[in-house]
Amino acid sequence: LSYDEVEIIQKSWSEIQSKAHDTAEKIFYTFLEKFPQNQQNFVAFKNTPLLMLKGTPGFRAHASRIFNVFSNVIDALDKDPDMKGIKNIVAEVGRSHAKRQIKKRSYVELRIVILESIAEMCKLDDDGIVAWSKLLDIIYHILFECIDGRDQQF
Ligand code: HEM
Repeated sequence: LSYDEVEIIQKSWSEIQSKAHDTAEKIFYTFLEKFPQNQQNFVAFKNTPLLMLKGTPGFRAHASRIFNVFSNVIDALDKDPDMKGIKNIVAEVGRSHAKRQIKKRSYVELRIVILESIAEMCKLDDDGIVAWSKLLDIIYHILFECIDGRDQQF
């Protein structure tokens, strides 16, 4: 990521920080609405109709956990030149999810929703979309290495 790209990402993220919990819930809700089979991974609410989950504390808390990981990574972008800290943050998620048998397909589906939602909310231009795609490439590379069992170096 170039200096300019880090700036674009941090600026767009700060725009949605003020309504972090709502944004997180919206992204998580859209993910499960568009790709419903993923709800089966959530033991706590796999059998609850999605519409009933909206606004409940457990659902919102989980959505916010994903959001927090992104916040921590984005915050570190201009402070972590060798990306060691970022790799650790993401690999921790990757390992816990690999144990839960979360598939690459689920991640790819979530990625689509994250990028679409942020592009819309922050009115990203082409450069913004490229910067965000690169960030997601970095994060997903680490997550997928954990699934493939190649995360020993982290
Ligand atoms: C739990 C983050 C993608 C399913 C968690 C937790 C975090 C997190 C921080 C709680 C801590 C932990 O157990 O590790 C993320 C991030 C993602 C992501 C940053 C993508 C970039 C996914 C996907 C699925 C998924 C695609 C598949 C449906 C789960 C489940 C739990 C969980 C089932 C446990 C929930 C519970 O027991 O309350 N996630 N997650 N996650 N995540 Fe993810």
